[in-house]
Amino acid sequence: MTFPDNVSALLPPGHPWGQHILYLPQVDSTNTYAKALARRGAVHGTAVIAGQQSGGRGRMGRSFSSPAGLGLYFSLILRPHCPPQQLMHLTCAAGLAAATAVERACGISPGIKWINDLIVDGKKLGGILTELAIDPATKLVDYAIIGIGINCLQQREDFPAPLRDMATSLALCGAKIDIAEMAAQLIRALSALDECLLQDKAALMARFSEKCITVGKQVSLIRGDQVCHATALGIDPDGALLVRYADGRCEAVACGEVSVRGLYGYL
Ligand code: BTN
Repeated sequence: MTFPDNVSALLPPGHPWGQHILYLPQVDSTNTYAKALARRGAVHGTAVIAGQQSGGRGRMGRSFSSPAGLGLYFSLILRPHCPPQQLMHLTCAAGLAAATAVERACGISPGIKWINDLIVDGKKLGGILTELAIDPATKLVDYAIIGIGINCLQQREDFPAPLRDMATSLALCGAKIDIAEMAAQLIRALSALDECLLQDKAALMARFSEKCITVGKQVSLIRGDQVCHATALGIDPDGALLVRYADGRCEAVACGEVSVRGLYGYL
């Protein structure tokens, strides 16, 4: 079992975030734990890494399968103190950083299914869950949590049965992977992102559009009981998905569930 508890040693000497990495053998959710730390004043750049999660969380109230020693379960605290409207693209930006880290750690280049899924060979390799807290007095962001889960060493039978045809891991893709090295690459990619998050938004979103496998595809948008079919045209500057419906109407979809034709069996 690999537990990534030596990540700071794999960062460049003096890396500003190297002194603020917490290692937990087991936790309910690194995002929940990071939120509690942030409420108690944890500094910008604090990272939480767990060997296992008993209640790993995904978007839309889903769970994230987090078996012991097989994945990277990681959350980062940022304190950008800007209006929340300036961070609408945070999930996209975090997805880009995660894809960069995977590529640097093991040479596999994941695509991104809008808005938060890392995809390799049409299957889900990992996901991003970002959460914001606003300071009621200033109306600025008090803290943002970037949660990233990456399937590293799982074999097919390590995934819950309903996920086996939809999920993959770096091992299943033939990569040799060290989870601590992956975590170090993630911290490097996220700290580079932190430097351009608010200044270079247009460039970041252009890179996201290139990586996003949803663009140009037929998609189904699920809202409550309703399913609408559309063509994904692109990504707007805040990370919303631009779609055109069959009747010609166009819309920017900011949140919700989107299935991509041909992915995970949607045909
Ligand atoms: C998704 O698939 O919708 C997002 C999954 C995000 C999972 C990561 S694992 C580390 C962090 N802690 C959590 O509880 N969730 C995120």
